[in-house]
Amino acid sequence: MLPQQQRRQFLKYWVGGALGSVAWGFLRPMASPSRAVDLEALCTATPLNARCKDYLPGVQARDRNNKPLLAKQLLSTSTPGLPVRVQGLPEKKIAYLVITQGPKLAEYAIRPICSHQGCTVDWNAEIKRFICPCHGAQFDNQGQVFKGPAKRALPLVTVVVKQDQVRLVDRAPAKDPRG
Ligand code: FES
Repeated sequence: MLPQQQRRQFLKYWVGGALGSVAWGFLRPMASPSRAVDLEALCTATPLNARCKDYLPGVQARDRNNKPLLAKQLLSTSTPGLPVRVQGLPEKKIAYLVITQGPKLAEYAIRPICSHQGCTVDWNAEIKRFICPCHGAQFDNQGQVFKGPAKRALPLVTVVVKQDQVRLVDRAPAKDPRG
């Protein structure tokens, strides 16, 4: 083979290989199962995004009797400032929906896990606070510290209301909305 022919042959393989790599890099994410995870993250952060029209993130919140909750019905019977205990998260985790003025559902729910040493706190309807049975810490109806020894607020999970469903996403909001 003449040197010029060899150069041409080499260039053909080189260009073909480079184009193949670019195409593979472009197509691979489309075929990956992580696309579903991306949709979960996208639709949790921006439920009104056009790509999320038919996507319901997280799991449906359920009442004490394990009955799925519907947002309108729930709001018609709830009182602003009084958290509503729900279940449905993996591993039977409990959360408390936060009802604000309107009444409206906050975009977060409170996990009743004490930030001191991890005991489960209970909502006390009489004094309207979460009380920790272990060392007496108290938290207000937003989960903020009212009395120590706990120093940090109760943790949160994300709430998305869609198609009249109350969806619980087992992840804290990107920024704590309580400030
Ligand atoms: S674990 Fe709650 S106050 Fe200590």
